[in-house]
Amino acid sequence: MKKVKIIVMISGGGTNLQSLIYTIHNNKDINGEIVSVISNKEDVYGLTRAQNHNIKTKVINRNQYSSELEYEKSLFSFLEELNTDLIVLAGYLSFIPITIIKKYENKIINIHPSLVPSFCGKGFYGKKVHKAVVERGVKITGATVHFVNEEMDGGPIIIQRAVNVDLNDTVESLSEKVLKVEHEIFPLAVKLFIDDKLKVINNKVEILNV
Ligand code: GRF
Repeated sequence: MKKVKIIVMISGGGTNLQSLIYTIHNNKDINGEIVSVISNKEDVYGLTRAQNHNIKTKVINRNQYSSELEYEKSLFSFLEELNTDLIVLAGYLSFIPITIIKKYENKIINIHPSLVPSFCGKGFYGKKVHKAVVERGVKITGATVHFVNEEMDGGPIIIQRAVNVDLNDTVESLSEKVLKVEHEIFPLAVKLFIDDKLKVINNKVEILNV
């Protein structure tokens, strides 16, 4: 059977990318392959992680293009060239043009380091999420894997997992705890996609026979 072709998009260290590479390379029953890793930044460690596994890398940075349309064309033609079936945003901090989001409806997956709809949307990215969680004093946070739609962090939710917040937690300790569950649920969501077990109805995801 034809393997699901996955493009992973990153902007940073790529620990989530690493967990995906690990899962895909170590499970013969996963019918998918990472065909390329795209970064919007040149000097990020995530690119090295990909190269260490002989995965083709590409830097596509919105600022290199004279217009949003040129950027969109370049990104889209790269995705089409590789016959992309699934786009995985693993700590990708730039934006995906709306036309691409529409063309790949329910085929783009993102991970967010909180329990959506808390601590998400505009301004909530990276360590800022955990800083807001610590400052608010909530008792539970977590991670969310969701499909991407036009609304920031607003697409259908695939999997969420909670993490307890302790009074002595810091941004760093919380980030570590949340990353640990991210590395479990992200590969799981990708596997469910590959196995065609995710059905989206009315902005909700049903997970079929698991
Ligand atoms: C993760 O916390 C992820 O939830 C968020 O960006 C961070 C990326 O971390 N979207 P890494 O580059 O995968 O280590």
